[in-house]
Amino acid sequence: MTAYAYETHEYDVVVVGAGGAGLRATLGMAEQGLRTACVTKVFPTRSHTVAAQGGIAASLSNMGPDHWQWHMYDTVKGSDWLGDTDAMEYLAREAPKAVYELEHYGVPFSRTEQGKIYQRPFGGHTTEFGEGPPVQRTCAAADRTGHAILHTLYGQSLKHNAEFYIEYFAIDLIITDGACTGVVAWKLDDGTMHVFNAKMVVLATGGYGRAYFSATSAHTCTGDGGGMVARAGLPLQDMEFVQFHPTGIYGSGCLITEGARGEGGYLTNSEGERFMERYAPTYKDLASRDVVSRCMTIEIREGRGVGGEKDHIHLHLNHLPPETLHERLPGISESAKIFAGVDVTKEPIPVLPTVHYNMGGIPTNYWGEVLNPTKASPDRVFPGLMAVGEAGCASVHGANRLGSNSLIDLVVFGRAAAIRAGEVVDPKERNRSVNTAEVDKALARFDALRNANGSVPTAELRLEMQKTMQADAAVFRTDKTLAEGVKKMEAVAAKMDDLKVTDRSLIWNSDLMETLELTNLMPNALATIVAAEARKESRGAHAHEDYPNRDDENWRVHSLATVKGNKVKLTSRPVHLDPLTGEKDGGIDLKKIAPKARVY
Ligand code: FUM
Repeated sequence: MTAYAYETHEYDVVVVGAGGAGLRATLGMAEQGLRTACVTKVFPTRSHTVAAQGGIAASLSNMGPDHWQWHMYDTVKGSDWLGDTDAMEYLAREAPKAVYELEHYGVPFSRTEQGKIYQRPFGGHTTEFGEGPPVQRTCAAADRTGHAILHTLYGQSLKHNAEFYIEYFAIDLIITDGACTGVVAWKLDDGTMHVFNAKMVVLATGGYGRAYFSATSAHTCTGDGGGMVARAGLPLQDMEFVQFHPTGIYGSGCLITEGARGEGGYLTNSEGERFMERYAPTYKDLASRDVVSRCMTIEIREGRGVGGEKDHIHLHLNHLPPETLHERLPGISESAKIFAGVDVTKEPIPVLPTVHYNMGGIPTNYWGEVLNPTKASPDRVFPGLMAVGEAGCASVHGANRLGSNSLIDLVVFGRAAAIRAGEVVDPKERNRSVNTAEVDKALARFDALRNANGSVPTAELRLEMQKTMQADAAVFRTDKTLAEGVKKMEAVAAKMDDLKVTDRSLIWNSDLMETLELTNLMPNALATIVAAEARKESRGAHAHEDYPNRDDENWRVHSLATVKGNKVKLTSRPVHLDPLTGEKDGGIDLKKIAPKARVY
């Protein structure tokens, strides 16, 4: 019996998180008349999607020829052949529809002279199945695309009577007889407890960038969905694949969009050389992100970094017309001034590869349904639970995500989850009664953390975790750094039992809130380093110096990590190789997407 009273709310669907995926799912559910609540720890328009700059990929062909098959090919190649073929086909096929829907909902896209949606080049997006020049596929609202999308989706969700529970922190899932039946949450401004009893819970809680010391991710990106799923005994997938964005501002980590290179920006080393021409002769600065980040790291390691400590790289925009910078890149011009003291019309921006995105997450099918795989049944669905956006792993990004494929992932799969929920959730059916034992368990965990009286302050342990991950699960990895990293992370995670929380209040208690967040970051971080240590090949963002080649025979599989305390158990599930539609039905020619060397 819990010491905390709680209020119970009944809905058909509860969405946790109000970023692009959460809001697109919320809107889609509410549009169909499902009673939908969105529970979010920050005000919806402050969700991290607001920071997405460069744009959203879809083969609209507004700036030249393009096809969904080309987009799919680029996504497959970008994923280094680890993505699920059916999910990647779904993404590329549905992308134009999802973008036009956004336009009709009111997203203020930038425009061409003819009034069409403006599209810019982005890394790894090409024509003719990688044989042609770069394509302009990334639809943009200047360099504030995420901001525009988030505001529009929030307004539309309100219009369709979705109900928002703002500044509520989800503590844990409620699991009843092998199905998810709701979530327990803490209301931050008055300290009350809430049980959301639902037929479907959708986790749209974003990534866990803050497991690292330097990230473009907001302070709020703490992998809350992954943490809750891990505590429910469900696995996380492909966690070893962490994306470093080539151009975080040196020192602050603040993002400078890849759109800057799309608009003509380029990188130089201390010799003033445009070094990407050497590494990626065809696509140069517009090679895929993992490739550019590795090249920058090599330049720095070989002594050609810029600055007093030769530890970063220059991004030039100063040759671009000031009107282009003003019209297309106003946000990053401002960020460069504020965070690097640089006037982009005159000087290069100091940049460094910075943690940006988690390809791994909660395994799902392309409808967003969470998977609980067994060897015999690798696609077994866990009832009542979905995951979308960066929290989920559908898997369309495989080992490396292409820039601007994230925003499209959010809306395509947020929308897909709503379509699927419309099929499997019956609003006329009564909800199951609340599983009080599960609620008590969640509140007991909360209470134990609130009263934690050990010797390690939360902020101290978080920093130790972040520094370990930054040092040992970096752009380049070796057997030695990974083995050391696993040992260190196990020791760090063991200290969770010795946490010290000093503030016992229930209202606006940031010490407790950050402690709860740390309990989510930790399983994500542990799974990442353990899965990275185990994967003996290089693929996408996992660049293993002792195994420099991709090994499709042994490693073209998704890794699954089940976390218990400070230990991780690894298993795997096969990559989906079959497309949704064959060539005869207007689908993809499988020969076109067969694995080959990944060069740009
Ligand atoms: O560079 C950017 O604008 C980031 C986009 C993305 O991660 O998709």
